[in-house]
Amino acid sequence: MSVLLQNCRIITAEKDYLADIYISKDKITDIGVNLLIQADQIIDASGKYVIPGGVDVHTHLDMPLGDTFSSDDFETGTRAAAFGGTTTIIDFATQSRGMRIRDAFDLWMRKAEGKACIDYGFHMIITDLSEAQLRVMDEMVQEGVTSFKLFMAYPNSLMVDDSTILKAMNKAKKNGSLICVHAEDGNEIENLIKQSITDGKKEPIYHALTRPPSTEAAAVKRVIRLSKEANVPVYIVHVSSFDALKQISDARLEGYPVFAETCPQYLFLSIEDLRRQNFEGAKYVFTPPVREKWHQEKLWEGLINNSLQIVSTDHCPFNFKGQKDLGRNDFTKIPNGGPGIENRMQLIFEGGVNQKRISLNRWVEITSTAPAKIFGMYPKKGTIAVGSDADLVVWDPNAEHIINARTHHMRVDYSLYEGFKVNGMAEVVISRGEVIIDKGRWLGNIGRGEYIKRKSSIEP
Ligand code: URP
Ligand code: ZN
Ligand code: ZN
Repeated sequence: MSVLLQNCRIITAEKDYLADIYISKDKITDIGVNLLIQADQIIDASGKYVIPGGVDVHTHLDMPLGDTFSSDDFETGTRAAAFGGTTTIIDFATQSRGMRIRDAFDLWMRKAEGKACIDYGFHMIITDLSEAQLRVMDEMVQEGVTSFKLFMAYPNSLMVDDSTILKAMNKAKKNGSLICVHAEDGNEIENLIKQSITDGKKEPIYHALTRPPSTEAAAVKRVIRLSKEANVPVYIVHVSSFDALKQISDARLEGYPVFAETCPQYLFLSIEDLRRQNFEGAKYVFTPPVREKWHQEKLWEGLINNSLQIVSTDHCPFNFKGQKDLGRNDFTKIPNGGPGIENRMQLIFEGGVNQKRISLNRWVEITSTAPAKIFGMYPKKGTIAVGSDADLVVWDPNAEHIINARTHHMRVDYSLYEGFKVNGMAEVVISRGEVIIDKGRWLGNIGRGEYIKRKSSIEP
């Protein structure tokens, strides 16, 4: 199968130019002006942008939480991602306490196999790091799991202590993997939660009030200190506040390899959403919480000046009816997480490019190229180049769209961005040479996605 894309305005992280793109099987094999090559399929991209497929490095599909699971599995979640212009995800396999890392990996491979519609890799969440499991981290790197996430929050389930983080960092230094950290001070938050419940403060807003920005900043500061001690890079996931960002930008200014992502929810939503009436605030319960509105512009600045390198989604959806309402009388029982895998590219295009905060190149960089580079998939993913996987999006910059839960493809009964007007939309989505979306129609096969054995992006 071959595809010729004609009259493309190709946008990569570095370039913006006019050319045709030729795809043979799953790879880009030629890029040039007026290519005269026979193809099975011709796509005219006049007036559109052609960008590398989006890379979302933070998703939780089919994720167990208490007695429930995130509502998108690998079929519905990856298909929705494709509708939004994302062609690669990295999901989190979770080693729950007492479980072997290898078993967690096998379990998540089974969850994805035969279901994923786009390509996928895994990070491994570590909760238990005995000497034996420490050795398995090396095995995981051989399997293509080249990043590990540790939690400084959720003391009753996922949190690890600083010595475990340090142990993992020392191991990562040897095997070239990257340590990712959920940075919130779990013990401090636990005290605030207990006090809130004792005081009878149980509405969704208290989710944010018991996790103030200072608890995020303190944890970021602590983990940066650990990474300095171990002399390894560190990646901070889902940065939500200026306070945390300041710790990161200060460390970067001093020359330390601290990397970080933020997510659309922190750029577009605020603590006011948690105050919505009739328990609607529960829809906005995810961790870290949404902040006061002024933090949003600070995070955009972080993306502009490269203190933040990536926008991911932390897609972790739970239905309002039947899942979020488990916490109707107590915010601590509301499943933490929100949907967004489908909306990332268009929201960052709208808030970034249309609102003139960032260039087209930077949009591609933070949603595709930097994620592929930092997580060991570049140049297979994250760019448009001869030899790269043919993961491409024909992006219509003028398409008007109103985000709406009735028309989105995520398996969740609400949208965090209900009624948001965005201009710009994925019109054609190509994954490894196959047109899987054409003008709002799904053309791919379920289960066509392939596991990506990632390289380490950090030299051991
Ligand atoms: O609320 C969230 N973010 N749920 C997913 C787990 C995590 O902490 O990333
Ligand atoms: Zn997290
Ligand atoms: Zn997450």
